[in-house]
Amino acid sequence: MKKSSILHPPSSISKTPTKVGVFDSGAGGLTVVKSLLEHNLFEEIIYYGDTARVPYGPKDPVTITRYALEALEFFRNFDIDLMITACNSVSAHALPDLRANADFDIYGVIEPGILALKNADLPKSSRILILGTKATIGSGRYQKGIRELGFDSIEAIAPSLFVPIVEEGLFDGAVLRSTLAHYFNTIEQPDAIILGCTHFPLIANAIRDYFPNHPLLIHSGEAIAEHLEDNGCKPRKNGTTNLKIFASENPEGLKKIAEKWL
Ligand code: DGL
Repeated sequence: MKKSSILHPPSSISKTPTKVGVFDSGAGGLTVVKSLLEHNLFEEIIYYGDTARVPYGPKDPVTITRYALEALEFFRNFDIDLMITACNSVSAHALPDLRANADFDIYGVIEPGILALKNADLPKSSRILILGTKATIGSGRYQKGIRELGFDSIEAIAPSLFVPIVEEGLFDGAVLRSTLAHYFNTIEQPDAIILGCTHFPLIANAIRDYFPNHPLLIHSGEAIAEHLEDNGCKPRKNGTTNLKIFASENPEGLKKIAEKWL
């Protein structure tokens, strides 16, 4: 069984991966797929969104872990080399159980996000704002890892309304603006923001522009793609990626979202 603490994820990938399984609670993990496609790391991506049971963010850790283990069973049909849990809520709670039950490497997005902040080399006095679902923020995993880096000005909030707003495609406009103000009006200007939820990269510009100092944003998709490269996953020089999309409900709807977002 491979068990890792926050800043010590599996150190290197045991086999050059060509086929990767990406798991998310629904459509949001497509933001991670977008980064993986841009980095051209894999020949084939099998995406599975648990659209029948999204959102995972308000659910308890036992339920999230049970759903994640069911997704692991789904991926056993595809002979994948590597699995990525694009969902922060799953990454926060289910990784030890997933890793204990899989015979391929499994990466979450939280360790890579923390390492991306480390690599940004900000002064330790920097103010860090973590945004995530209730499940992610409640796990304290980002907070713990970021404190271990030496930052102590950390604020963590769960702006739950961002998820349905993104699902509605409200990437700008009055509803988004007033929701940003609702969650951020008591927050001191951060120097960096962890976008600790699959959906938040889609409103990244609005989040950054809310604060006059335009804080640095850490994006899970970019963080995991860079982390995989650092751990032996080489970008391919040419060739496109074969992306196959599956869902526990309405796969056609998910494919339509993929056409729009990717
Ligand atoms: N994918 C989830 C995450 O990144 C957000 C949506 C949900 O609550 O399921 O935590």
